[in-house]
Amino acid sequence: MPIVTTKEMFKKAYEGNYAIGAFNVNNLEIIQGITEAAAELHAPLILQVSAGARKYAKHIYMMKLMEAAEIDTGLPICIHLDHGEDFEICKSCIDGGFTSVMIDGSKHNFEDNIKLTAQVVKYAHDRGVMVEGELGQLAGIEDDINVSDEDASFTRPGEVEEFVTRTGVDSLAIAIGTSHGAYKFKPGQKPALRFDILEEVSKRLPGFPIVLHGASSVVQEFVAVINAYGGQMPDAIGIPEEMLRKAASMAVCKINIDSDLRLGMTAGIRKHMGENPSHFDPRQYLAPGRENIKSLVKHKITDVLGCDGKA
Ligand code: G3H
Ligand code: 13P
Ligand code: ZN
Repeated sequence: MPIVTTKEMFKKAYEGNYAIGAFNVNNLEIIQGITEAAAELHAPLILQVSAGARKYAKHIYMMKLMEAAEIDTGLPICIHLDHGEDFEICKSCIDGGFTSVMIDGSKHNFEDNIKLTAQVVKYAHDRGVMVEGELGQLAGIEDDINVSDEDASFTRPGEVEEFVTRTGVDSLAIAIGTSHGAYKFKPGQKPALRFDILEEVSKRLPGFPIVLHGASSVVQEFVAVINAYGGQMPDAIGIPEEMLRKAASMAVCKINIDSDLRLGMTAGIRKHMGENPSHFDPRQYLAPGRENIKSLVKHKITDVLGCDGKA
C-alpha cells in the first residue's frame, strides 16, 4: 500500500459514518506506537507533522521514518502538514513528499484567508496533493502561539460555502468548542460542543469532509500516573469521548490528536524512571512510552473513531 492522499479515505469515512485519526508525530517511538496500533487493527491512518515538529526533527528524518512505517506495516498512510501558516511551508512540504497540507489562515480576515488558501490549493492540486483549510479559531496553544478563550471564535456556517467554493479546499477544519492542549475546560465547567454549528455546516456542504482539531480527551489515567511519579499537572479536562464518537458519526472525517499522545509518552517515561531510578539507557524508558501510545491509539481507533478494519 503506498503513501496515499486523504481523498479516498475521506469519501469512505463520510459514507461509513466514521473518522480517521490524525496523530501528531515527531520521533521514532511515537511513529512506531501509532502505526503498530493501526496495523494490528487494519485502520487507515493520517500522520501529521507540525512546523514545530518539523523544526525539531527535520523534514527529511520525519519523511523517511514515516515512509519506513508505511513499508513496515503495509498500511495506507497519509502524510500531512499540520497548521501550515504560510504558502512557503506548504510548498516545502508538498515538494518534500507530503500528500496533504493544512493551510491555517484562520488568524486572517475572511478575504485574506481565502486568498492564501486558494494559492496553496492551486500549487497542491497541480501536484496531486490535498488541502485542509480552516474557518473559525480554536483556543489553546500550538507552536507557542497562545490563542486565548476571548480571541477564539466559532465557525460561522454562513461563510462555509463561499470559502469552499472560492478556495477549492478538500476538507475544512471548523471551531465548535474544542481547543488545543491539555486544559480545554476549566475545573467545574461542563464540557460542551456546538453540534448545531456542525449540523448547519454539513447541511450547507453535503458530502464534504469536516475536520476537528483539539480533540484529545486528556486521558485521566495518564495524568494520574504523571502526577503519581513527580509531575505537577493541574486539573486537565478534555473532550468527552462520546462527543467525539458523535462527531465521527456526522460529517467529521478527520479527528486530530496530539496532547493524549504526549501524556501517554510522558506517563510511560515517568513511571519507568520512578520505578527504576538507576536506568539511563533511553531504550528502557522510551519503550514504555511507546507501549502507552500503542494502547491509546488502539483504544481511539476502536472506541472513538470507529475506523478499525477500514484500511
Ligand atoms: O495543534 C497543534 C499540535 O498539537 C502541534 O503542536 O505545534 O507544539 O507541535 P506543536
Ligand atoms: P490536541 O491538543 O487536543 O491533541 O489537538 C491536536 C491538534 O489539533 C493538532 O492539530
Ligand atoms: Zn490543531
